[in-house]
Amino acid sequence: MYRVLYRKWRPEGFRDVIGQPHVTETLKNEIKSGRISHAYLFTGSRGTGKTTCAKILSRAVNCLDPHDGEPCGKCSNCIGIMNGNIMDVVEMDAASNNSVNNIRDVLDEVMFTPGEAKYRVYIIDEVHMLSQGAFNALLKTLEEPPSHIVFILATTEVHKIPATILSRCQRFDFNRITPEAIAQRLEYIAEHEGVELSHEGAMLIAAVADGAMRDALSILDRCIGLSDTIDSAVVREATGLAGRDYLFTLADSIRNEDVPLAINTINKLHMESKSISRLCEELTEHFRTLMLIKTMKKHAGELIIMSAEETERAVKQAEKFSLSMIVRCIDVLQASLERMFRGGNNKIEFETCMIKLCSPGLSDDLSSLTARLEKLETIVRQGITVSPKDSSQSRSDVQPAEEKPDDTNAESKTSVQGSSLPEIRPRQSEDLIEKLVAKAKPLDSWEDILDEMKSKSFTLYHRMRGTSAYYADDYILIDAPDDSAFAFLRSDKTRNVLIRDAIRKVTGRSYKIGPYRKPQEDSPAQKTKLDEFIEQISDSDIKLTVE
Ligand SMILES: Nc1ncnc2c1ncn2[C@@H]1O[C@H](COP(=O)(O)OP(=O)(O)OP(=O)(O)O)[C@@H](O)[C@H]1O
Ligand SMILES: [Mg+2]
Ligand SMILES: [Zn+2]
Repeated sequence: MYRVLYRKWRPEGFRDVIGQPHVTETLKNEIKSGRISHAYLFTGSRGTGKTTCAKILSRAVNCLDPHDGEPCGKCSNCIGIMNGNIMDVVEMDAASNNSVNNIRDVLDEVMFTPGEAKYRVYIIDEVHMLSQGAFNALLKTLEEPPSHIVFILATTEVHKIPATILSRCQRFDFNRITPEAIAQRLEYIAEHEGVELSHEGAMLIAAVADGAMRDALSILDRCIGLSDTIDSAVVREATGLAGRDYLFTLADSIRNEDVPLAINTINKLHMESKSISRLCEELTEHFRTLMLIKTMKKHAGELIIMSAEETERAVKQAEKFSLSMIVRCIDVLQASLERMFRGGNNKIEFETCMIKLCSPGLSDDLSSLTARLEKLETIVRQGITVSPKDSSQSRSDVQPAEEKPDDTNAESKTSVQGSSLPEIRPRQSEDLIEKLVAKAKPLDSWEDILDEMKSKSFTLYHRMRGTSAYYADDYILIDAPDDSAFAFLRSDKTRNVLIRDAIRKVTGRSYKIGPYRKPQEDSPAQKTKLDEFIEQISDSDIKLTVE
């Protein structure tokens, strides 16, 4: 009889459990030193080894001849527990036995000493499903547990466990398993199963499995059903990732404003019975991939699910889009998807959505209007009074204007609007930055400033880590390896304030902040990004002059 891989390859000892050394090493040490707790709680995302470790632990505490904290697998206790012949190890699934009575039945036996084994072990899986009464009964036992009892509670939803129970358990958090570790285990298993699995295929399975070893093994099972030789093409077919060229085509049609191509592609897929809402979801995910490639650069690899060739293609496609264009596509697609779920004709909805995306000149471009409105709100909140002349200027700016496809977008237009502000105009700022860069000196205390940021906002620190800084006059210029640090700063004003505070704390004086640009770099694309950031500084400047 065929046994599914994830059952067949359930690790028998801690040594075969991958990706959870903080759990397995600690448990082994406890076994070796005989410091066994009365209650363990295993939590973490699904398919990462909780039930597996509970089973191993139940044998390890009872093994007659444990080696280095591992159950021997050969003694009568190990074998008895494996076969389910020893009644002292009880596995309960709380999902199906969640009434108070079930737990009472179990807890009634707790007082008796074990028959054959050393410890009575109760494995309660999915423990978050227990009823309130059942938790109360369990708590009573946990308050004064008999010495021969071990409870192992396992759950994916730790927030549903009462604090009174939590505080009486030794807790272990199981991590999602890294793609490399999953791929390595898959390759090991494939070898023993006599199937050929390419490394790229293994990595693709690992990416789709999203950290869960069980899911990875189920996908491998599906692949084996298709072929004995498994490469990324087989994985793509088994996981439904195959033949998704149409996503690249649809994205191209948006980039090239090619309405006929978009409509024909949709029609062709519709004729092939492709679900239109699914198509819309897939295209949204595709733009998410482009967004990650654009912002995370080479670090995007682990976050996207694509084979190497596809990734290469996606990188090329991402180059043709500006970030704000991608974000706008995601917004419009998601709004369209929501409307599909509310009912109506999906095909017409999606066609309209694609025509909108292919024709940025259409005047109902809400996302660009919204962006400007937000900008105005921020300015008003900062207490800038807008003179009648300024307000008329702003109004005419808010008029839906013709949009050009290339890099012109809501953000760059708001930056033009920003230039109508009294203090600093972006162009002037750019000249200023150039002058400053020419005389800037490295800021030695930047590491201390980063440390100071860390104590205020770890996310901010995390994003700014790896940057360096220069100073000139009353400016500090930040040199970031890519644009994501600036994108992060732009997305929330308080982050700017945090940085300036950290600078003041360490240096003892207030500085304005700006981007450091290496003197020789002068490509037009970079200028646009710089523009966006300068727009941000202009705002900071206003605040600083108020201070
Ligand atoms: N860390 C791991 N190392 C090796 N194999 C693993 C690991 N985690 C899971 N597996 C594989 O996946 C199968 C299922 O794992 P297990 O039942 O332990 O997951 P779980 O964490 O209890 O998941 P759930 O939350 O869904 O109950 C195991 O039989 C094993 O084949
Ligand atoms: Mg489990
Ligand atoms: Zn044993």
